[in-house]
Amino acid sequence: NATTVSPAHSASTASTLITNIAALVTNDPSLGDGSPLGLVHDAAVAIEGDRVVWTGDHRKAPATDNRVDAEGRAVIPGFVDSHSHLVFAGDRTQEFNARMSGRPYSAGGIRTTVAATRAASDGELEANVTRYLAEALRQGTTTFETKSGYGLTVEDEARALRIAAAHTDEVTYLGAHIVPPDYAEDPAGYVALVTGEMLDACAPHARWIDVFCEKGAFDGDQARAILTAGKARGLHPRIHANQLSYGPGVQLAVELDAASADHCTHLTDADVDALAHSRTVATLLPGAEFSTRAAWPDARRLLDAGVTVALSTDCNPGSSFTSSVPFCVALAVRDMGMTPDEAVWSATAGGAAALRRTDVGRLTPGACADLVLLDAPSHVHLAYRPGVPLVSGVWRRGERVV
Ligand code: NIG
Ligand code: FE
Repeated sequence: NATTVSPAHSASTASTLITNIAALVTNDPSLGDGSPLGLVHDAAVAIEGDRVVWTGDHRKAPATDNRVDAEGRAVIPGFVDSHSHLVFAGDRTQEFNARMSGRPYSAGGIRTTVAATRAASDGELEANVTRYLAEALRQGTTTFETKSGYGLTVEDEARALRIAAAHTDEVTYLGAHIVPPDYAEDPAGYVALVTGEMLDACAPHARWIDVFCEKGAFDGDQARAILTAGKARGLHPRIHANQLSYGPGVQLAVELDAASADHCTHLTDADVDALAHSRTVATLLPGAEFSTRAAWPDARRLLDAGVTVALSTDCNPGSSFTSSVPFCVALAVRDMGMTPDEAVWSATAGGAAALRRTDVGRLTPGACADLVLLDAPSHVHLAYRPGVPLVSGVWRRGERVV
């Protein structure tokens, strides 16, 4: 069960060996127990530079000067959080309080954050992103996507993307989050802005384009026009779909070969079927249902139909103010019908699939050396011990950061 890569990345020159791992999640089904998690017991991982160069039985591990003893604990790939909204100012504590007293969640709350974000300085926004990313890293997130969507002017959207791009390659233009109050009487004019001048200003800073396709935000025709315009500018589509109600978002995602349809809380059988016969990943965001007291998305139904499922945080000040992937894993297992193995796969390899990445979310030779050492003998403890800070070590691109 050991594999190596080309001599250029020879295991014999590995710079760090993490050994004495009781349970190693590789996400390579050709390794270990043959399950999708490719679970290897009594394992070691060799890292050279920013890459994994060797994975296998620790008794066969290459020699190296720098050995890290995992002391019989578990190692998993770093989490890939493929959906967050980190460029914002202020918070929405009052709205959350009101919701927990019975008021329903609505897209309208986004306006509060738009006003605060527009009023904030670059430094304030930058400090917020840095803070939430540090939070996420401490909880094992080594790859993350983040969006604009709280600026909703040409300047404020471009600014948000510039700030995001300083921290990650996975930057998403979400000028179509809601129609801002300044365009309340002219939604068509706003769509023209999003697909015109704003797209011109934003495309150079982003990899992805996203739309909130929902009643009170953008309908199917508007979403198609926006995502199609983005595609023509070289951005790849992803979409907030079927979060608060049934709608056209999921079918549109499949039609446009979006990398991911996110939320997927209200799905018809035809929606599930369309996803199952596509490359589009269903990204489930249980922090949103938790924080809005909404019904859970049915992960079991999607998995049984053969849909690829990702799990992410949706970290944002309105609907899901958590940066914790372990929390989302626990929710998905408890309330969405996922097994612990499935949830851990979805939070790592699933997130990578939602970003169309193969270099993260797995621990095999050639992959990025993004690893999480858990203070537990197995990955199952992420769901079994909810709320407990089990992340005791994080390596990002080969460097120990936690
Ligand atoms: O993914 N659904 C749209 N956008 C966010 C919520 C944003 C907010 O409430 O500020 C979401 O849940
Ligand atoms: Fe979102």
